[in-house]
Amino acid sequence: MSNVRNWQLGREMEYPHEEHHPQRQFAFVFNINRCISCHTCSMACKSTWTFSRGQETMWWNNVESKPYGGYPRNWDVKLLEQLGKVDPDNQRWSGEANGDPQKPYGTFEGNTIFEAAKKNIGSTAARRVLGYLPTDEEWRTPNLYEDTAVGEKGHPMKFTRAVEELPTHSTWFFYLARICNHCTYPACLAACPRNAIYKRPEDGIVLIDQERCRGYRKCVEGCPYKKPMYRSTTRVTEKCIACYPRIEGTDPETEGQPMETRCMASCIGQIRLQGLAKIAEDGSWAEDRYNPLYYLIKVAKVALPLYPQFGTEPNGYYIPPRWVPRPYLRQMFGPGVDEAIERYMVPDRELQAVLQLFRRSNRIIFKYKIENGPKVFETEIHGKQFTQFDDTIIAFGKDGQELFRTKMNEPVHVRPAGIHQNSI
Ligand code: SF4
Ligand code: SF4
Ligand code: F3S
Repeated sequence: MSNVRNWQLGREMEYPHEEHHPQRQFAFVFNINRCISCHTCSMACKSTWTFSRGQETMWWNNVESKPYGGYPRNWDVKLLEQLGKVDPDNQRWSGEANGDPQKPYGTFEGNTIFEAAKKNIGSTAARRVLGYLPTDEEWRTPNLYEDTAVGEKGHPMKFTRAVEELPTHSTWFFYLARICNHCTYPACLAACPRNAIYKRPEDGIVLIDQERCRGYRKCVEGCPYKKPMYRSTTRVTEKCIACYPRIEGTDPETEGQPMETRCMASCIGQIRLQGLAKIAEDGSWAEDRYNPLYYLIKVAKVALPLYPQFGTEPNGYYIPPRWVPRPYLRQMFGPGVDEAIERYMVPDRELQAVLQLFRRSNRIIFKYKIENGPKVFETEIHGKQFTQFDDTIIAFGKDGQELFRTKMNEPVHVRPAGIHQNSI
């Protein structure tokens, strides 16, 4: 074990390998407030990478309903329970989110999955990572019982009345889209006894070497997000590859430019923005003020890591859903939730502009610029002043070339009267 710095936890933590950092890190922001669970992202990935025999229940990208769903079933509840058993009173955060970039969410006082593994005495004591291996049943049926009435066994089209009754507590749910987080400290990599998993120095993408893998499935057991998936026909494990030919610009469609992944590019709800964050030598995010990911995560702090307490420093960030009870969100995204939702509900001028960058192009945005326009609207939201300007937002690519420009105010086109042929 070595001591590594995990900025999301606000402290050092133990990790089974030495600290190494890539020059850039594949990262993404998903705005949950916009996700409609259309599964276009899941199908884009499946039709590209996981359509073959043995990959039937592989969903490198999945969308689950929370709080009831999960793929594999109950993955997060199971791990939270395991962690809770190791040190039930101590899985908490201390300190305030006080603007300190070293501890933006305070300090996590509890055990990460690496630290908890050492305390988990008994038959599992030798493991490097606390985790579990889901059953075949748990993998088999993504989205089972989610958003559907439950049928009565043996009676087609008859639905159980009992579960249609509304519970007495307040009802809420949201959709959580997930891919591999290409973690800074990947648990899959730490758990593999074959050293078959590696993190690329150029972009931090985490890959499984298909030649070295022998199907031990320790990675499946160790990944807290359950994103490596075993393929029974080849007897090796596969996972999201971050569509690396697109990131490299070698996919024919990219014309040499780094392009966002298939699941990002297909997103109908426009919830996704993906990029390559600049990483400093010590592993922190190098200041890159006008990179949209840097702005959303480090400056506006509206996008938060998924279960940061697990300790892998995931590189997937989420703008939390504003209607969901805060204790649930704090458990899922850490103590930054309140500040993130406050900012998102009444966005300032810059945040409004950056939110316009989502899905205007499939090229990766490395920088943005805002040109000021006239004031067009003002009101009060939740007791706070909200003003909108018709600003122009300009996005730039890897070599500084302009990718596109868009305006805050969407242009209105009035269709002239007359007979129009159906375009379909
Ligand atoms: Fe590995 Fe899981 Fe992190 Fe992906 S999400 S890098 S599979 S630990
Ligand atoms: Fe699939 Fe590519 Fe998205 Fe990974 S990044 S889930 S490989 S589409
Ligand atoms: Fe290693 Fe996972 Fe293969 S543990 S051997 S990469 S199945």
